[in-house]
Amino acid sequence: MTGVASTAKTDFVRSLGADHVLDYTKDDFADGTRHYDLILDIGGGASLTRLRRALKPRGTVVFVGSEDTGDITGMGRQLRGAALSLFIRQRLAILMAKERASDLEELTEHLESGRLVPALAESYPLDQAKAAMQMLETGKVRGKVVIVPDQPTPGDTSARGDHSTVPA
Ligand SMILES: NC(=O)c1ccc[n+]([C@@H]2O[C@H](COP(=O)([O-])OP(=O)(O)OC[C@H]3O[C@@H](n4cnc5c(N)ncnc54)[C@H](OP(=O)(O)O)[C@@H]3O)[C@@H](O)[C@H]2O)c1
Repeated sequence: MTGVASTAKTDFVRSLGADHVLDYTKDDFADGTRHYDLILDIGGGASLTRLRRALKPRGTVVFVGSEDTGDITGMGRQLRGAALSLFIRQRLAILMAKERASDLEELTEHLESGRLVPALAESYPLDQAKAAMQMLETGKVRGKVVIVPDQPTPGDTSARGDHSTVPA
């Protein structure tokens, strides 16, 4: 499994279990030297041509994110990929996450048993949601930021922006 990240996060991605890590500021996953069975396309917005070049002849791309803000649907690349997929051997599929109670219950079981350990960076109480979003916008967060509705706000109002660091 190969993970792709910016320079500052390559160690983090390796610690999550990736066998190989590419630094997208230096390495091109689609340079034609590597071919993958499955590409989870979460960030970066690579073109269909580049994604297909990095895939094996019967490989699959799953579009998760990196929407194109330049078109009406915001999903032009994904929709073109899904249409193209009807005519080629490679599969280009769109993921639309659905929130189902039964899935969340199963996830809870995995979390409680320790089989699944999320990479959580920091947690904030609900009234500091703005600070949480600002932290995300810095691009420095390794893993996810969590908003905990019943987490007590630090007593000192001058301490707004204080938050907890969640052990990984
Ligand atoms: N399909 C669905 O149902 C669904 C559900 C939820 C979210 N999404 C979408 O999924 C995307 C990711 O969500 P998120 O919450 O994980 O966002 P995020 O926390 O902002 O993460 C985006 C990631 O993309 C990475 N990235 C940026 N440029 C890249 C490049 N050129 N190559 C490889 N990676 C690159 C960033 O890595 P660095 O920080 O190292 O730059 C960052 O880790 C968003 O577009 C979101 O809208 C889709």
